[in-house]
Formats: sequence, C-alpha cells, structure tokens
Amino acid sequence: MRPATTGGAGHTAKVVSTRAELSAAMQELREDGRRVALVPTMGALHEGHRALVRRAHDLADSVVVSVFVNPLQFGKGEDLDKYPRTLAADVGAVSEEKGDLVWAPSVEDMYPGGEPLVRVTPGPMGEVLDGASRPGHFGGVLTVVAKLFGAVRPDVAVFGEKDAQQLALIRRMVRDLDMGIEIEAVPTVREPDGLALSSRNTYLSPEQRQAGLAISRALRTGSLAQARATLAAEPGLRVDYCELVDPATFTPLDRDEGGLLLIAAFAGATRLIDNRTI
Ligand code: PAF
Repeated sequence: MRPATTGGAGHTAKVVSTRAELSAAMQELREDGRRVALVPTMGALHEGHRALVRRAHDLADSVVVSVFVNPLQFGKGEDLDKYPRTLAADVGAVSEEKGDLVWAPSVEDMYPGGEPLVRVTPGPMGEVLDGASRPGHFGGVLTVVAKLFGAVRPDVAVFGEKDAQQLALIRRMVRDLDMGIEIEAVPTVREPDGLALSSRNTYLSPEQRQAGLAISRALRTGSLAQARATLAAEPGLRVDYCELVDPATFTPLDRDEGGLLLIAAFAGATRLIDNRTI
C-alpha cells in the first residue's frame, strides 16, 4: 500500500487525544480515498504490537494505532492501576514501524459522560473461559472496540491471535452488528524460549517467568491430556483453565480431535494466557 504521511528514517507519528483532533487527523489520512487500518492497543507496545502495525501497513494506506487502557474491561482487584503506561515509548515504536497516527485518549475523552449506559453484550461465547474467570471483561472489550471503530471508521482492524477469545468475539460482533470492517489476525509473537509476548510479562519475577514457560511447553505437546499433565507438573503455576474448544463457538471438545487448545494460568498474581491450534 502507498504510504500516507510516512517518511523514512526519522518519521514521527502524529499524536492526538481528543475527538476533534482525531477527526481532523482522520480527514487528512483519508484524503484521495486512502484505505485506513486501525490497530487497537492498550499501549506498553512490544514486538507483538509492532507485528500488528507492520501487517496493518500491508493492508492499508494509513495506519492508526489507538493507545487506551480501558477501565471497562478490568474487574475489581485486577491490574488497572498498575497496567504499564508508556506513551512516549509507544509513540517511538509506532513511528519506527511507520504508523501515521497514535490516538491516545484520556478516560474522559473516551467516556465523556462517565461509563456508558449502553454497552455491547458478548453473548454465550463471552461467558466461558476468560469470560467466566473475568466477569464483565468481554463486555468492556467489545464496548470500547465498538467505540474505537465508530470514531476511526477503519476499513480494516488488526488484532493478535494470542487473545483468541477476544478475537473470535470481535469477529462475531462485526458480523452480528453489520459493522462492515475487515478483521485481520496476526500470529502470536514469542520469546526464543516460547513465552508469548504480553505487556503483563513485565510483572514477572525471573522464577515466575520460568514457571510461565510451562504454558507454551504444554501447548507444544499438541494434546489436551498431555498439556494438562505438563501444567500439573509445574508447581509455580496456578492453572485457571486448560481446554480444547471449537474455534468458531468456543464450546469444549472432549477428545483430542483437533481444535483450539487454550490455557490461562497464574504465575504469582500475573494471569498469563496463550493458545495453539492442534
Ligand atoms: O487486546 C487489547 O489490547 C485490548 O483488549 C483492546 C482490544 C485494545 C481493547 O481495549
């Protein structure tokens, strides 16, 4: 795709926060019918997010990255307050990947009248697995994603496969609510030892990180029974779930007949998730 405002080395992405600034910037980015890609993030960008921005570039002329730690998707006692906020570094990363615009709204910019009364309901697929462990989480995710889509009006939006249930629900929301936005998925980026990249990995002590490696090891067994045995052998992990599901519906499959193998486990207080198609 042709570049919109991107230069070569030394390119700096524009940064906006308010809706008025976003609208003005979007008008420029859309000039001449340019195609727009949105990469929704909560910031603390790592190599996985960079891969999303690079993919967005392949798919569109203009690339917008939203950076917003969305209070609506955090439950009581979760890590909303300590979630890493690294906007200057995030703008640097988006600029290096030749993104055009960073939209970093404040909570007031995003929810000017306070928390929204009307929200997106995820339905049954949002009530199992992460939805069961984190009540209200997917309602918060879908509501903010719907708002991001409404404000940016992208042609395509790019998400990571690591958040598999989130990705499936966003696809379903776009379909069920006729949003007319293409959803593109990018494979999980991993450390050389297998740990899936996550902004929450910064919370891990070296011992917790070591224990966390059992998750990708379990997924690599390619079998539900063996994955469960691998996790059970790691005393440093508290397993939330290890399930094999139908990737379209997220209903559990009992036999190792192929499907999406999903794991969530705590290393200390940090909840890690990962998945693999088997
Ligand atoms: O995956 C994330 O970072 C968030 O859940 C998202 C999609 C940006 C919504 O806040």
